[in-house]
Amino acid sequence: MAFPPGFLDELRARLPLSEVAGRRIRVVRTGREFKACCPFHNEKTPSFTLSDQKGFFHCFGCGAHGDIIGFVMRHDNLSFPEAVEVLAGLAGMQVPRASPEERKRFEREKTLYDLVEHAARWFESRLYVADGGAALGYLSKRGLDDAAVARFRLGYAPADGGGLIRHLAKAGFPETDMIEAGLARKPDDGRAAYSFFRDRVMFPVADRRGRVVAFGGRLIAGDGPKYINTAETPLFHKGRLLYGLSRARQTVADGAIAIVAEGYMDVITLVLAGFGGAVAPLGTALTEEQIVELWRLYPGRVKCPVLCFDGDGAGRRAAERAVERVLPHLAPDQSVKVAFMPEGEDPDTLIRGGGVAAMQSVLDRALPLAEVVWRLEVTGRDFDTPEARAGLKAALDERMSRIADRTVQGFYRDEMRKRLDEKFGRTAQVSGHSSGRAAAEGGARPFVAQRGYGPQRRPGFNNRGGGKFGSPPPPQGPLPSCRPRSAVAVGQRILLITMLNHPELFDEFHDHLGTIVDAESHLAQIRLALLETLGAKPDLGPEALLAALNLHGLAEAVAKLLDRSTMPHAGFARIEAPTEEARFGLHDLFRQAGRTRLTVELDGARRQLSSRLDQESLNRVTGLRREIKSGTGDIEDDSGDS
Ligand code: UTP
Ligand code: MN
Repeated sequence: MAFPPGFLDELRARLPLSEVAGRRIRVVRTGREFKACCPFHNEKTPSFTLSDQKGFFHCFGCGAHGDIIGFVMRHDNLSFPEAVEVLAGLAGMQVPRASPEERKRFEREKTLYDLVEHAARWFESRLYVADGGAALGYLSKRGLDDAAVARFRLGYAPADGGGLIRHLAKAGFPETDMIEAGLARKPDDGRAAYSFFRDRVMFPVADRRGRVVAFGGRLIAGDGPKYINTAETPLFHKGRLLYGLSRARQTVADGAIAIVAEGYMDVITLVLAGFGGAVAPLGTALTEEQIVELWRLYPGRVKCPVLCFDGDGAGRRAAERAVERVLPHLAPDQSVKVAFMPEGEDPDTLIRGGGVAAMQSVLDRALPLAEVVWRLEVTGRDFDTPEARAGLKAALDERMSRIADRTVQGFYRDEMRKRLDEKFGRTAQVSGHSSGRAAAEGGARPFVAQRGYGPQRRPGFNNRGGGKFGSPPPPQGPLPSCRPRSAVAVGQRILLITMLNHPELFDEFHDHLGTIVDAESHLAQIRLALLETLGAKPDLGPEALLAALNLHGLAEAVAKLLDRSTMPHAGFARIEAPTEEARFGLHDLFRQAGRTRLTVELDGARRQLSSRLDQESLNRVTGLRREIKSGTGDIEDDSGDS
């Protein structure tokens, strides 16, 4: 484990929550506690309270809740270990590394980070010595002045492949590390190692935290691939990172829109033109992990980055691939828009030629995802036979079935049905008109899948009906407690079980662990141990994770948690379930939990309204009802409180 027992408690004890929060948002003392406008949802009257004594924050508006580490994680958009590091810095504490292997791994990464940073600095300096002149000239021809070159840390890798190796060796780095960092190549025939990047303009790629971990190198003249990129290394996973991510994290948190372009130069020109949320994948098509990373940039509830594609055939194909990857992950208020560039332009050339306004107008015309899905199927095709129409319907159905979120899927089906009706002039042949509610609850679905189109049924995956977590089926063994567990407690258990069985999902879901409300104390201990263990070693498999938890003295608690007789029927949580299934299951779970929380709050607000009958209470009830409705589309307006 990374943080020895006591370290985190000490950290929490040393730093008053109000002070740490007070550096980030405006807080006002009210007696023993503090109040603020909630940084995690939009509000004008403060419903966010902080208590230094309890070490917790809670928002009565959106339900955000957690301790000082949770606050920094959410506010600064950091992972658990990153937040701990930030706080330790403030508290003047050294972050300890417990085990020797831990320390070795840390030291090793540190050396590799160091090495790559050294290389970046050297590449930068090469622009301004002898043979860097051509590269500098090239950059200025592309409109980049010295300030831009410095800002993006652009550099030059000289044609002589030995220079970098000699420089790094002089700084004390072993050749094996240069190779491991993807900077050097060693021929089999015993000749000396040489630089992977030669005679190229260098674009350093930084990780989420802004540390350089890789490079892209562009050809200046001559033959060869236009760009080459660092291969996978211990520091760099190209499918997970995006070029410009660390800057975009800041600017998007400050309200900029996230824009995905195709290339390094596009990102640079976009940023210089004032589009600070620009990022690009690294020489590959956008991956699902990168899409999830994009959504994580958004601190608020509504997450909608714009994906830019070329206006030509290749761009349309790239858009289609991106759509395929996005659909399974859609959630309420979580989507993408798609902008197509004018034929022959990329954001770089468009801005250089037509200015900010030209780019802005492309962004303004970005299409909602549903429109893109529709166009992908209808553009350039004839539907003058019944068979062709049926084919279109089937193709749309197939796409809709990929949407894992049932509520979103329901609304997509409604939307496509409407479009089909409009296109083919059918008006009211509707039997059992579907709303989001009906679809969400497995009711009538328009043109679904009679023949195998709907979501596939998988063995052991019987947990996807709504409301199951609120009323778990009776356990087969003896009852673990005399009263049924609350939905929240059941949800927490499922989350913990899923993390234990699928630690590979930790990265994606640790935020939920970070802000979980502790219902039962042994669960709280497991949760903490999970955060510490996986926070430090995200690559642990389930067995190694169990072993680590046993070392925490949690063997019994873990065994009790995993005991099948007390385990709710969440098939996805099981160790046999494929990762994707577990991921979807958890996404479902949290949507459910969000709704439960809002419903509980709504109950409270209604009680308050009936006792006070004032405008403020009424606003709160209306606001909550609107939120529940827009979030899930499935709470009925029962008018019982107006
Ligand atoms: P583009 O060919 O669109 O390049 O490739 P670009 O960004 O417009 O570059 P300039 O304007 O000609 O300098 C888009 C991205 O695809 C990757 C790079 O990440 C590039 O930025 N790519 C492209 C490669 O990895 N290798 C290549 O050979 C070409
Ligand atoms: Mn370009």
